[in-house]
Amino acid sequence: MAEDRGRIAGKTAFVTGGASGLGLDIVRRFVAEGASVVIADIDAAAGEALAAELGQRFVKLDVSNEGDWLAALGPCDRIDILVNNAGITTMGSIEDLTLAAFRHEFAVDVDGVFLGCKHIIPKMKDHGGSVINMSSMCGVRAQADLAGYNAAKAAVTHLTKSVALHYAAKGYGIRCNSVHPGAIHTAMIDKVMAQVDDPEALYAGFVATHPVGRLGKPEEVSSIVLYLASDESAFATGAEFRIDGGSSL
Ligand SMILES: NC(=O)c1ccc[n+]([C@@H]2O[C@H](COP(=O)([O-])OP(=O)(O)OC[C@H]3O[C@@H](n4cnc5c(N)ncnc54)[C@H](O)[C@@H]3O)[C@@H](O)[C@H]2O)c1
Repeated sequence: MAEDRGRIAGKTAFVTGGASGLGLDIVRRFVAEGASVVIADIDAAAGEALAAELGQRFVKLDVSNEGDWLAALGPCDRIDILVNNAGITTMGSIEDLTLAAFRHEFAVDVDGVFLGCKHIIPKMKDHGGSVINMSSMCGVRAQADLAGYNAAKAAVTHLTKSVALHYAAKGYGIRCNSVHPGAIHTAMIDKVMAQVDDPEALYAGFVATHPVGRLGKPEEVSSIVLYLASDESAFATGAEFRIDGGSSL
């Protein structure tokens, strides 16, 4: 029997927001499945510690900054997998949200994905690859108190389709798909709860919106991301992969 070297053995991955939450779980999963991973994050302390633990490389990157992208990707010879995972969640309705907060949400969650999809092309187009954009169930179904996040994640969903069509038309062999988690208990959920007066009620509200009666686990998201990163998903592009306990139904 052939030795099982892992589902993405020999591939190089670049994971934004890789120092915490879903990104951290994706990084661990990719390494366990044989990939080399560049962990890119704005949080250098957490990113460097994780890179040292796993024997991988860390690069400090603010995904909303084009210069940071060029500097981070410059030394990379070849990348097979890009996970545009970094994101923030700003609570607020159309009435509460300031224009500055709305623009910041877009700078990180949309500009960040745009810049990744754009500047990865020279690193992938000669051999092909997979780009995975982290959208959300909130990019499919809206909530009154998440106007900026809803709009940003919906933008990621549709940007993914445009990018997928372009990559395909050019014959680059690059696929681009979006992933739509429901509420997954990570540091992001704790940060969202810290923005409201009654965090317990908010948490109960999250659970209530998931027909399966619970929040998701990071590994349930990284399983889909691993599938999209691997050659098993070779015919999938421009698609929305929902992993949300039925919350978008
Ligand atoms: N947790 C959830 O319930 C959930 C649900 C749906 C979608 N998502 C999406 O999944 C992604 C990851 O979420 P998470 O729950 O792991 O969040 P998290 O807060 O635990 O981790 C986000 C990571 O991104 C990094 N980051 C933030 N701003 C950055 C920037 N400008 N440049 C580079 N790195 C930056 C943070 O330092 C952190 O390491 C986000 O895009 C989020 O919108 C999360």
